Parts: sequence; C-alpha cells; structure tokens
Amino acid sequence: MKETILVANWKLNKTKTEIEGWFDKLGLLTLNPKSPLTVEVCPPLPYLELASLLIGRLHLSTHVKFLLGAQNVSQFDKGEYTGEVSAWQLKDLGVKTVIIGHSERRRFLNETDKEIAQKAANLWNQGLETILCVSQIEQVVSFKNLLPKDHPSTSRLLVAFEPIFAIGSGQADTPKDAQKMALEIKKVLGENIKVLYGGSVNSQNVVDFVSQPNISGCLIGTASLKATEFSKIIKRMALLPNLS
Ligand code: PGA
Repeated sequence: MKETILVANWKLNKTKTEIEGWFDKLGLLTLNPKSPLTVEVCPPLPYLELASLLIGRLHLSTHVKFLLGAQNVSQFDKGEYTGEVSAWQLKDLGVKTVIIGHSERRRFLNETDKEIAQKAANLWNQGLETILCVSQIEQVVSFKNLLPKDHPSTSRLLVAFEPIFAIGSGQADTPKDAQKMALEIKKVLGENIKVLYGGSVNSQNVVDFVSQPNISGCLIGTASLKATEFSKIIKRMALLPNLS
C-alpha cells in the first residue's frame, strides 16, 4: 500500500499564538484514512519545541501520523559557528525530518550543492530523514556526486521536485511533468527513493499529484499556513482509496 506524505513548510511565518491556533483547528479533524498518511510539520526553528508539544497533544480520532520537521540544518556539527543549529540538536528536540536545499535558500543565502550534501550526511549520521529540494535534474546529479564517500545510505532520503516558477506563484506544474521528473530522479538515485512534488499545491490539485504512480506526496508552503485549507488537503488524502 502506498504511503502518502504531506509536508507543511511554514517558511518564515507564524507567531506562537498562530501556531497554537493552527494545531487547535487541526485537532478537530476526524478521519479514518484508507491508506497510510504521514503529515510532517516544519515550523521555523524557534518554535520547534512548541510544535513538538502540540504534535504530541494532537488527539485525532484517526491513524494519521504527525511528525516534527525542520526547514534547515547547519552543515557544521559543533563548536564556534554562531547562529547555527546542528543535526544532533534537532534530533534532541524531537525532529524526525529536515528539509535541505530549498530553492529559496539556494537563491537568497547562496547555499551550494556541496553544503547541501554535507547537511544530508550530518542528518543521516543522526538517523534523521532528509528532504532534498531540487528544481532541476542537474541538482540531483550534483548532490549524488558530492555526498561524502562514507555517507551511511540514501535510505532516509526523500527528494522534493519543486520547479521555481511554481513556488508560491499559484501556478502549479502539471502532474504529468512531476511524474516525468520523478522517474528521472529515481534513475539517478535509485528506484526506492521517494519523490514529492512541491509548488502551489492546494486542496484542489493535491489529489492529481499524489495519484501519479511515482509521486509519494507533496511539499506544501502557502496552502499549509491556513489550518482550514491544510485540513481540507489532509481530508482529501485520507479519503483516497489505496493508491498503490
Ligand atoms: P508553495 O511553496 O506551496 O507556496 O508554492 C512550496 C515550497 O516552497 O516548499
């Protein structure tokens, strides 16, 4: 049975009160998913502990699994790196999954492929799941080539295909394109790699993406901010019959 994964990427948004309100509304969901569904919530770093607490309290009459995620991690491990947060600290806070290489970080913070590969290796050393964001196949090839030679494995790797034009624009790519790219990604990294699609996903189009045979879920920015819209997305997923 195909497990579907929804990742809520809040980016640089939300106050403490807004986060509490979001979880209160999500707590009203009552579902009985027909296929396994995992929802990974990635708040800004300062709210990880609060989100962890609220995820723990989230009492749904459902089998939906909620996990705590982070939007970034340091390429460094420990020591004199002011302002950085490392993989083992995220793990210590209950984080299970971490987004790396988001196009906004590549663009606004000049993050390089080499740094991104190092971040992945640090996360795997801590046993954390890693969501690598890419907008082109070249980034996947470069990531693979730059991984430290002794990296543990890619078994905890998910790749999110996010075309730049689709991010935050309201203009999603076509499910067909996403499926095509998923196959290319698997050709480079292996058949077992799970591929997500991201870029203007909402409650209207999410089913079209996850119904593609090689798309395992979606990375959702704007539409994850409003609890009502995100609840609708979760409901759509939960009501789908087995997608295998
Ligand atoms: P969007 O963002 O859903 O607002 O397009 C997706 C992302 O950047 O991860």
